[in-house]
Amino acid sequence: MLKNLKLGVKLNLLLLSVFLVVVLISGFALSKILDNYARHVVEDRALLLIETMSSVREYTSKEIIPELAPRLETEDQFLPETVPAYSARSVFDYLRERDNGSYGNFFYKEATLNPTNKRDKADSFEQKIVERFRNQKNLKEETDFRRFPGGELFYVARPLAITQSSCLRCHSTPEAAPKSHILTYGDQNGFGWKLNEIVGAQVLSVPASTVFNEAKRLRFVVIGILGGFFLLAILLINLFLKFSVIKHIKRMAQLSTQVSTGDMNIEFKHDANDEIGILAKSLNRMKVSLQMAMEMLDPDSKL
Ligand code: HEC
Repeated sequence: MLKNLKLGVKLNLLLLSVFLVVVLISGFALSKILDNYARHVVEDRALLLIETMSSVREYTSKEIIPELAPRLETEDQFLPETVPAYSARSVFDYLRERDNGSYGNFFYKEATLNPTNKRDKADSFEQKIVERFRNQKNLKEETDFRRFPGGELFYVARPLAITQSSCLRCHSTPEAAPKSHILTYGDQNGFGWKLNEIVGAQVLSVPASTVFNEAKRLRFVVIGILGGFFLLAILLINLFLKFSVIKHIKRMAQLSTQVSTGDMNIEFKHDANDEIGILAKSLNRMKVSLQMAMEMLDPDSKL
């Protein structure tokens, strides 16, 4: 079937198949590379933020508690500023409001099975994470994607353990806790925790869909540019083929037809010294030989 096709069609078929293979392979490779890159971007963001939250907790424990702890004993009003969980959460809430809420899809939660503050109650997804941390003591971090109605989130989770006995003041029995604590939070929740027990997990989520969509967009842009260059190349090759090869071959064919009908005044001409030029010279030689042969056969005839 290929034999019946013209040179230009054959060449274009070849170029288009190369184009398709190049687009398929580069599209596949690009999507792998860009997806990896997008994952790194969201992972880095989430890790940086969870480290920041841990630093806020540490700052509260080391610098705020010593300052305010004496007031907990004397004042009726509980000071939530003494609680690392509270300061981490508050700092994060401020972050979410910044820049006109552009961090609104970032979330931080100290998801706990039996929390003091109900808003920290682990949902069923977070409960499973906490259970995994409780069952596998060597598991120090979990990262994955989670679907939300607003899109996909990437989360980093780390276990929250009671590592200091000072924590038990407010989290063991209501009797041990400062009065103001009980007055504010009641005596039902956030008690009965044990030393070294994993009571919850820090879960920090960052939006992933936007980054992945950006990666997808970048992939289409790169393939678009590549495709554009390829089409331009195909166009140039076609113009070259038409004007530098096919046009001359057609002219030679037409002249040869004229010679074959007896018109010996025809001159095969081509300016360049390329293959077409060589063809023109050979055709001229062939025409002369033909003319001589004809004369030899019939010396009287003047073609
Ligand atoms: C002075 C009392 C007090 C001490 C000491 C204390 N906490 Fe708390 N903790 C609280 C209160 C009150 C909350 C709820 C804060 C809020 O409203 O967000 C809380 C919240 C938490 C939470 C979030 C889940 C929840 O219960 O709402 C975790 C996790 C937590 N504490 C762990 C610790 C650890 C670990 C220590 C020891 C380093 C500690 N706490 C020491 C009073 C205390």
